[in-house]
Amino acid sequence: MSIATAMIIGASSQLSQTLAKQLSAQQVSLVLFVNDPDSFSEFSQSLPGEVSVYPLAITQPDTLIAQLNAAWTKHDGAHLVIVNTGVNEYDSTLPWAIDQHTIDVNVMGFAAASQCIFKLMCEQGYGQLAAINSIAGQRGGPNVAYHASKAFAANYLQGLSMHAQRLKLPITISDIQLGLFDKAVHLNTQMLLSPIDKVAEQILTALKKGKRRVYVTKRWRIVAWINRLLPEYIYNTRHWNPRKK
Ligand SMILES: NC(=O)c1ccc[n+]([C@@H]2O[C@H](COP(=O)([O-])OP(=O)(O)OC[C@H]3O[C@@H](n4cnc5c(N)ncnc54)[C@H](OP(=O)(O)O)[C@@H]3O)[C@@H](O)[C@H]2O)c1
Repeated sequence: MSIATAMIIGASSQLSQTLAKQLSAQQVSLVLFVNDPDSFSEFSQSLPGEVSVYPLAITQPDTLIAQLNAAWTKHDGAHLVIVNTGVNEYDSTLPWAIDQHTIDVNVMGFAAASQCIFKLMCEQGYGQLAAINSIAGQRGGPNVAYHASKAFAANYLQGLSMHAQRLKLPITISDIQLGLFDKAVHLNTQMLLSPIDKVAEQILTALKKGKRRVYVTKRWRIVAWINRLLPEYIYNTRHWNPRKK
């Protein structure tokens, strides 16, 4: 028997799948939203617990909100919702298409999903909304729209947390400030990479503790702190290594 229900919005990513495996092993019933449900059936069937899969139109807010509402009603709500959609692209010639796509997914889609879930949790009277964010939001950076979108997400989550407090509702808003993990090997650095199982474990431990903001893995708190302190004339002269395909 399931002890709780968790929704993962953007469940196809490697990190989401690792979170899903760990939650399913802990008898949590899963409601997963993915871009392409058909190509996801092999993974979802491999999970030990209850699991339902729904499509995700992250760049079409009206459709997205309808999809989330329909699943919420069907499953009678959820205890935990993790938003883990995101794109991160880099081109030094700064084509508008990259910024447009990043804003559509990381800003518009993120806000539509988070706000919709927050309102549903308000009606339900409780819940935990967590978003996989990035320490990239702490300062501007080379992937211009990506860095800015992560600052938007942190700020947006803070606002939702404020509303939960105003309404005196036990709704926890958790901002997961991620550093780099294994998947980011293409960034040309092996330094500070963390195994994905450890990343997922630390995220779930922080969520159980009801953390408002957490750095994962823990050592990235120090990197984030140094990053914030660096004077602009040093911060702006970081090396620009070409990315390997
Ligand atoms: N990778 C890292 O080292 C790292 C570091 C810091 C923070 N993060 C953050 O972690 C989050 C996830 O990153 P990730 O590396 O796991 O990325 P990822 O593997 O590319 O996953 C992103 C998720 O978003 C979904 N998505 C993207 N565009 C979509 C669209 N147009 N329609 C529907 N779904 C869409 C993807 O679905 P599809 O697979 O179906 O496209 C996937 O489920 C992001 O918010 C990112 O900022 C990652």
